[in-house]
Amino acid sequence: MSKSVILLGIESSCDDTAAAILKDGKLLANIVANQDIHKQYGGVVPELASRAHQQNIIPVVHQAILKAGINKEDINAIAFTRGPGLMGSLLVGTSFAKAFAMGLNIPLIEVNHMQAHILAHFITSPDLPKGEERQPEFPFLCLTVSGGHTQIVLVKDHFDMTVLGETIDDAAGEAFDKAAKIMNLPYPGGPLIDKYAALGNPLTFKFTKPQLPELNFSFSGLKTGFMNFINKETSKNPNFVTENLNDICASIQHTIIEILMDKLKKAALQTGIQHIAIAGGVSANSGLRKELLKNEELLGWKVFIPAFQYCTDNAAMIAMTGYLKFLKKDFTTQATTPSARYSIA
Ligand code: KG4
Ligand code: ZN
Repeated sequence: MSKSVILLGIESSCDDTAAAILKDGKLLANIVANQDIHKQYGGVVPELASRAHQQNIIPVVHQAILKAGINKEDINAIAFTRGPGLMGSLLVGTSFAKAFAMGLNIPLIEVNHMQAHILAHFITSPDLPKGEERQPEFPFLCLTVSGGHTQIVLVKDHFDMTVLGETIDDAAGEAFDKAAKIMNLPYPGGPLIDKYAALGNPLTFKFTKPQLPELNFSFSGLKTGFMNFINKETSKNPNFVTENLNDICASIQHTIIEILMDKLKKAALQTGIQHIAIAGGVSANSGLRKELLKNEELLGWKVFIPAFQYCTDNAAMIAMTGYLKFLKKDFTTQATTPSARYSIA
C-alpha cells in the first residue's frame, strides 16, 4: 500500500487566519480565527489585518495539528494562499509556509484563493450531511461571489478554468457590506442583511439594476442609488431604517441576487452548460441558495452548493487544492512571493 499524504493548508489572504489538515484528501481539522477588530471600521483595515494574522497564525496551526491528532513531523507538504488578496495579509501566510516547509524539509505548494473557493466543492469530510458531499461534474459554471471578487468561471477541469465575466467595480460581497454600512450595521454586513431579509418583503423597495453588456457585473451604481435612497428617506423620517429594516434588507438582497442570477442564466444559455455551482462568502446567502435551487426544476439545472463552513474563507479549500496539486507534483520553490492580483487563468 502507498504511504498516506498529510497536508497542512494555510489561508491568510484577507481577514481570516485559517489552517486545515487533510489526510489523503479527507479533512481532519479546519480552524478559522476571525478578526473582530474590523467590525468597528465597517470594512477590513489592511494594516490591522496583517498584525492580527501575525498574532493568530501559530495558535491556529497549533490547534489544527492538535485537532487532527497528528504530530507536525507527520505533515508531508504545506499549501498556502499566494493570492489574490491583501499584500500584508498574504505575506504572513506565505512567510510562515516557507519557513515551516524549510524547517521540516517538505514540499511547498502555492494556491490561488479564487481557484480554491471553487475547488472547495471537492472537500470530503465526515461532518458533511447527506447531499452536501455531492461534487460537481465537469464542465460546470461557477459563480464565485466573495468580498473581493465576483466572477462567472467556466470550469473544465480542476485546473482548467476560464473567467467568462467579472465585476468591473465592486464585488457582490462589497455591495452587501456597503449597504449594511449605510444602514449603520457592523462589518461584515452580508450575514446580517441575510438574517433580516428573511423576515422582510423583497418587493417593498425598488432599486435600479445596472445594464452591462456580456457577462460582466457592476455594483457601484447600486451602492450609490441605495445611499441616495436611504439619505432621502431618513431626512424625512430619522427612524426610517430601524422601522423598515427587514423590508430594506429583503429588497436590496433581492436586487443583488437578481443581478447575479440574470448573468448566470445568460452564461448557462451561451455555453449550454447546466451544471451550476456557487462559491465564495456570498454563496452562504440563503436567498441566493434558494433562487439557484428553484432553477433545478424551472430550467433543468443541476445545482452544486458548498457546505456553509466552506463558503467563507477557510483553509480546508486551500488544503484540498494543495492536495490536487500534490498528486500532480506541482510544487513551488522558496523563491515564491505573494501575488495580490494572482489570476486563475
Ligand atoms: O469569501 P469571503 O469569506 O472572503 C473574501 O474572499 O472576500 O467572503 C466574504 C464576503 C463578505 O462580503 C460577507 O459580507 C459575505 O461574503 N457574506 C455574505 C453572507 N455570508 C458572508 N453575504 C451575503 N449573505 C451571507 N449569508
Ligand atoms: Zn475568499
